[in-house]
Amino acid sequence: MGRVAIVTGGTRGIGRAICEALQKDGFNVVANYAGNDSAANQLKADTGIASYKWDVGDHEACLAGCAQVAEEVGPVDAVINNAGITRDGVLHKMSFEDWNEVMRINLGGCFNMAKACFPGMRERGWGRIVNIGSINGQAGQYGQVNYAAAKSGIHGFTKALAQEGARFGVTVNAIAPGYIDTDMVAAVPEPVLEKIIAKIPVGRLGQAHEIARGVAFLCSDNAGFVTGSTMSINGGQHMY
Ligand code: CAA
Repeated sequence: MGRVAIVTGGTRGIGRAICEALQKDGFNVVANYAGNDSAANQLKADTGIASYKWDVGDHEACLAGCAQVAEEVGPVDAVINNAGITRDGVLHKMSFEDWNEVMRINLGGCFNMAKACFPGMRERGWGRIVNIGSINGQAGQYGQVNYAAAKSGIHGFTKALAQEGARFGVTVNAIAPGYIDTDMVAAVPEPVLEKIIAKIPVGRLGQAHEIARGVAFLCSDNAGFVTGSTMSINGGQHMY
């Protein structure tokens, strides 16, 4: 069996595309998800990839979930921190809960998954962590102080943990997607989204598989010298 990879938020959208790309590259992939059982069943039916349900923002649930995966599938070699939510709104209308949920899940999830899996990778001398950041963590976005702060935090988290993993064969990188054709982006009000697309030099939304190929590269042996980096995949919308 190949190396074991966990993709959080792995049953839909970008996460599902990542699962499929890593499976194609020989990883033994499992998906984590929080709520949508039918998407998890569909993933299993289409690809054979098993899903494990827990909230990545819940520290204890993450430790228990990753321990279960290690026992049932094998020690975890690669973690893709993809799970994320939006609770968009301008600051003066944003509740503390909307702030806190985005920080807890999007940024806290990265910490929780790393706490569960990084020590084992370090001991075994090989590991890959890829964190899905965002163009909006690099450039900011009107109506997203919570999401932009969490995603920006992911980029800092990546660079710090990369320094801790480097001597042990554990690379830690981020991908900063631009606007990708997913349910999350489809939820942006149409007139707002039209204005955003008009500013993408490539002239279209990205596709989930275009992010997944970047993740697959970062998880490969060929990428052993790449660590602490952020790969921007955004159609030229923000050159950073
Ligand atoms: N810059 C400046 N002003 C802006 C603006 C912008 N980018 N966007 C909106 N405004 C202005 C509007 O023109 C409007 O002004 P007027 O009242 O003078 O006309 C005012 O702000 C209020 O705008 P809305 O009517 O849209 O206000 P709202 O409270 O109904 O909604 C919002 C605010 C929720 C932020 C809404 O604009 C929105 O959803 N924006 C999209 C945010 C976004 O891009 N989210 C990305 C989600 S996908 C994702 O995050 C994935 C990823 O990683 C890329």
